Amino acid sequence: MEKVKCVIYGVGAIGRMLSKALLEKDGFEIVGAVDVDPNKVGKDLGEVLGLNRKLGVVISKDADKVLEETKPNVVFHMTSSFLSKVFDQLMGIVKHGVNVVSSCEELSYPYISNFKLALELDKAAKKHGATILGTGINPGFLMDTLVITLTSPCLKINSIKVTRQMNASTRRGPFQKKIGAGLSVEEFENKIKSGIISGHVGLEQSISLIADALKVKLDKIVVEPVKPVISDKYVKTDFVEVNPGMVAGLNQTARGIVSDRDFITLIFTAYVGAPEEYDAIDIDGIPEIHQRISPCVHGDWGTISMLINMAPKAIESPPGLLTMKDITVPHCVLSDVREYLKH
Ligand SMILES: NC(=O)c1ccc[n+]([C@@H]2O[C@H](COP(=O)([O-])OP(=O)(O)OC[C@H]3O[C@@H](n4cnc5c(N)ncnc54)[C@H](OP(=O)(O)O)[C@@H]3O)[C@@H](O)[C@H]2O)c1
Repeated sequence: MEKVKCVIYGVGAIGRMLSKALLEKDGFEIVGAVDVDPNKVGKDLGEVLGLNRKLGVVISKDADKVLEETKPNVVFHMTSSFLSKVFDQLMGIVKHGVNVVSSCEELSYPYISNFKLALELDKAAKKHGATILGTGINPGFLMDTLVITLTSPCLKINSIKVTRQMNASTRRGPFQKKIGAGLSVEEFENKIKSGIISGHVGLEQSISLIADALKVKLDKIVVEPVKPVISDKYVKTDFVEVNPGMVAGLNQTARGIVSDRDFITLIFTAYVGAPEEYDAIDIDGIPEIHQRISPCVHGDWGTISMLINMAPKAIESPPGLLTMKDITVPHCVLSDVREYLKH
């Protein structure tokens, strides 16, 4: 069987990390790369990845041309968090009949982000025989797919609480900036108001994904405003300096409500200097289930792994717009990816 031909769509931080990982994985072959950044367009992917060799893959801004010429089996799509922004990009991919695995947060449950656009994507994917899947670590796994899986041994569920707490000190500089670390409270509030800091994108999608899988009809989803985490100590990372009283990061809570009761609660906290980091899932049910991953799963490694590991699933799945709840039990692609494909 031929290698699985892949196109990298979005050669940003995640796209570069994923590309390097793919080069080490048996059975994958990168045949094309797409990006709009003028600093990358026209360059060999190997150069942009900081390798000492060329890969013979020139980054192009013309996705149509790349897809036409390379005829890939799957596109790894990593450009934006918002469905409205990626809609045309995804339509452009599926019209070539090519499967796509995307890190777009809103695509993890697109029906809540924009129902009309989601239906259009589903229709186009089915028409052209392609699969679209939004995945990632969060949304995509830790606060939704893993939660859904953990409900399997339950007979009854009263409520579900999921907490992800990250120590941002060990994360990339852009991430530390994105959560407001090092700002005064006033600067933080201003950046929230102007949309420069958006908080975590995906809590609403994760809640919807869980509720859809469990067939629980939520009365509403409440996403509380993003709150700053104020530092009570001096913290210095490679990228920011935080004095006591300054913002160390952010906290956000979302709740899926049934009959005035919180049925699903998701709490996301990320700040520099956090004393511990963990992912916790607490299911109040019969039986009750308490799961804790400590330290928490590394976001970037988790994201690129989810995208790579879901690629054979997307290739094998029937055409259409899928979410993680439609995927057969997810797992690591440990062997040559072709061993996970039927033909
Ligand atoms: N679901 C999850 O768990 C998860 C986890 C991590 C990241 N993400 C999401 O994945 C996306 C990628 O993350 P990142 O950190 O790699 O972001 P990034 O560093 O900003 O990279 C995005 C890249 O895509 C390019 N791009 C933007 N619009 C494009 C278009 N229309 N066609 C082709 N290329 C385009 C950007 O170019 P310019 O810089 O010139 O715009 C940039 O090079 C983000 O939306 C991020 O929030 C999701």
